[in-house]
Amino acid sequence: MRTWTREERYRVLKSEEEIRELHERIVWSDYRQQYHIQPVTGLLNDPNGFVFHDGLWHLFYQWCPWGAVHGLKYWYHTVSKDLVTWKNMGVCIRPDTEYDNKGAYSGSALPTEDSVYLYYTGNHRDEDWTRRPYTCLVELKDGGTALKHPPLFGPNPEYTEHQRDPKIVFDGESGKYYLVIGAQTKEKKGCVIVYTSETPAEGWRFAGQLKVPGFEDFGDMWECPSIEKISGYDVLIFCPQHLKLPGRGDSVHHNGYLLGHMDWETLTFTPDNTHFHVLDFGFDSYAAECAANPNDRNKATLVAWMGLPDASYPTDGEDWSGCLTLPRELRVRDRRLIQQPLDALRALRGKKIDLESTDVLPRVCEMEVISRGGDLVLRLFAKADGTGGLCIVYDDVKKTVTVDRSNLMRRFNTEQGEARTRPLPKGLFHLRIFIDRSSVEIFVNDGDAVFSSRIFPTAEENRLIANGDASVHLWELKRAVTDDFKVE
Ligand code: FRU
Repeated sequence: MRTWTREERYRVLKSEEEIRELHERIVWSDYRQQYHIQPVTGLLNDPNGFVFHDGLWHLFYQWCPWGAVHGLKYWYHTVSKDLVTWKNMGVCIRPDTEYDNKGAYSGSALPTEDSVYLYYTGNHRDEDWTRRPYTCLVELKDGGTALKHPPLFGPNPEYTEHQRDPKIVFDGESGKYYLVIGAQTKEKKGCVIVYTSETPAEGWRFAGQLKVPGFEDFGDMWECPSIEKISGYDVLIFCPQHLKLPGRGDSVHHNGYLLGHMDWETLTFTPDNTHFHVLDFGFDSYAAECAANPNDRNKATLVAWMGLPDASYPTDGEDWSGCLTLPRELRVRDRRLIQQPLDALRALRGKKIDLESTDVLPRVCEMEVISRGGDLVLRLFAKADGTGGLCIVYDDVKKTVTVDRSNLMRRFNTEQGEARTRPLPKGLFHLRIFIDRSSVEIFVNDGDAVFSSRIFPTAEENRLIANGDASVHLWELKRAVTDDFKVE
């Protein structure tokens, strides 16, 4: 694996010509996605600023142009009319001031009458590499022009240097705006700190630390926190770091949520119970961000990074990595978040494949499986002799579903564990599976559980094996992202 010097990672992109050749090389990769947002070059991590404004969805991502490495971060801008087809718009926020000199880190968006406010963390570092995080604001005008305001506030001295990822929330009851920010206490405990203002562009002051009874000692830093209102519940979503959770291998990176009640007056989020629910049971999902649904206050749309911090992927050697998950519609059912693929995705369906006449699995497709009961084994991208592949196994005695990627030829991040199991007390009745050239997203029982994972099948892994009492439907899917070079 290539090692990068700090100078290489934090090099400023002066002109798109510096990366044009790199882009022209990577678009030929066998693993470029066809309907998932992916980086023009280099590394993509968190989704940022996901918002609907003036008839258009805006979605940005954390971007390091130079290769599959975390270095100087930009906000790259994509837009969509339907959350299915996406267009590259180029860089929106550049780390070009004193306050964000070492990166425009993650954040969120607020739609206003005639512009969108983008809140992000300016990752400032001094000469001696001491970090000072600033909370910054950019105004996005006419859907494209970015106007930087002076920073809203600097680091809070009562916490360590880990303070980032502002999520803007408007509380209708008090008429106040809040910024919830991931932080670390001086005792090295993960937490959320809250700032408030009556107006979104100025007057911000520290309101206090969010109280989350029962979660005072839960990881050493909480990244990408947000508080959403879904189906009448308050949902606190965050990524607690450096914590091991049962059933998740040696992974110390998780993205999950608590369901409960938020009291902005006392800054207390009271969870319904002590259970931290994992958002996604697959191997690659982190830093989820939600956008409010403009037509239905009970729903929100979630998108996440289909990747993990401190992990490496088979395309790293090609100088690109990462993609986003499909947007998913969120609602609460039986006191849990349900995630469903958007209806609009059906527009991507192309030819239906007759599984009586072939067992070749297209590299870009959607599969629907309706179980009539009993055990089920699916092997996606098995070899011609029927072995290998990504195994999806439903055990009707144990009432569990397991996704195991250890039998694929290209193995990676094995220390995170290669099999993930999720109990299904009511059994398995339905699967919807979205396959792109290097990813798979499995929606179990109408969104009861989701498994999102990167996979990198080789040419000799191309078969579908299905054993069990079930009907299996398969469609080719059309392309929905252009792989064009747009930077400036
Ligand atoms: C999460 C994260 C954020 C940070 C960003 C930097 O993946 O570490 O906390 O703002 O990525 O790219």
